[in-house]
Amino acid sequence: MLSVKNLIDIDDLSIRDVEIIMENADTFNEVLERDLKKVPVLRGKTIINMFFEPSTRTRISFEIAAKRLSADIINFTSSTSSMKKGESVVDTIKTIKSMIADLLIIRHSDSGVVNFISRYIDLPIINAGDGKHQHPTQALLDLYTIKKSFGNFRGLSVAITGDILNSRVARSDILLFKKMGMDVSVVSAPMLLPEDISHYGVRIHGCIDDVIKDTDVLYMLRMQFERQDRKYYPSIKEYNRFLELDEKRLNKMKKNSLVMHPGPVNRGIEISESVMNLESSMLEKIKVNEQVRNGVAVRMALIYLILTKE
Ligand code: NCD
Repeated sequence: MLSVKNLIDIDDLSIRDVEIIMENADTFNEVLERDLKKVPVLRGKTIINMFFEPSTRTRISFEIAAKRLSADIINFTSSTSSMKKGESVVDTIKTIKSMIADLLIIRHSDSGVVNFISRYIDLPIINAGDGKHQHPTQALLDLYTIKKSFGNFRGLSVAITGDILNSRVARSDILLFKKMGMDVSVVSAPMLLPEDISHYGVRIHGCIDDVIKDTDVLYMLRMQFERQDRKYYPSIKEYNRFLELDEKRLNKMKKNSLVMHPGPVNRGIEISESVMNLESSMLEKIKVNEQVRNGVAVRMALIYLILTKE
């Protein structure tokens, strides 16, 4: 059983909690391989998927996960809601709560807003990404993807590369990977690093070439233009020179090493067009689609564990 009733910050989970989620994800992964990909464990439960920010994979992944568990899931989109008439976030959620929901899944563009909501709403909440702050379920599915490839994660080296400053994925991944005993470094430019990066206890590199031969996992981040209030990098060409994964660099990677990315990928910026179009055996290294696939099993595990917690 999990020690928490919400998942807002990845650091809320103990090592044991993470292990329990991984074990349950294995079980649900098996369910997803069956012809009948559905189990009746959450029949009668109602989940509200509240996305105040655009999303493709995370929103659909939560929706599929809930349906595979036989829960009812309602998709709320702020652009077609009474928020357009001026209703506040907390009042909107209180309205929905009156209709008796069992779990809220919230994505919002403001950092910290999910934590704020949890103080006013007495319902289990899963953070599906808040601003630049946290994206805990992405970190869990990333860890699960690594575990499936390597069998374990202790001692593995991972290099998180690109726009760390604006990335909630980087913040959650660094904390979780370190907690689970991985050796984490970041590859970025000074203007794309947060000021408090020294508190994370990670090694810092300036170019992919510094880590490419030794890293077990090369974790590429999206250049998050929509969160950048000014130009953080001189040019795309300059970015490519230090921080893009191209075929030449891919070919230098260790046997059995992985390339990961949370998606959506900016082709030609963080990963080259030719790597994205690869059809050789190198393709096995690139786990972007497998991450999406694993996301469903991991979210099923988390939802199940939260909703069956006494
Ligand atoms: C990420 C997000 O929205 O935080 N994507 C995702 O959830 N799969 C990463 C990103 O947008 O760069």
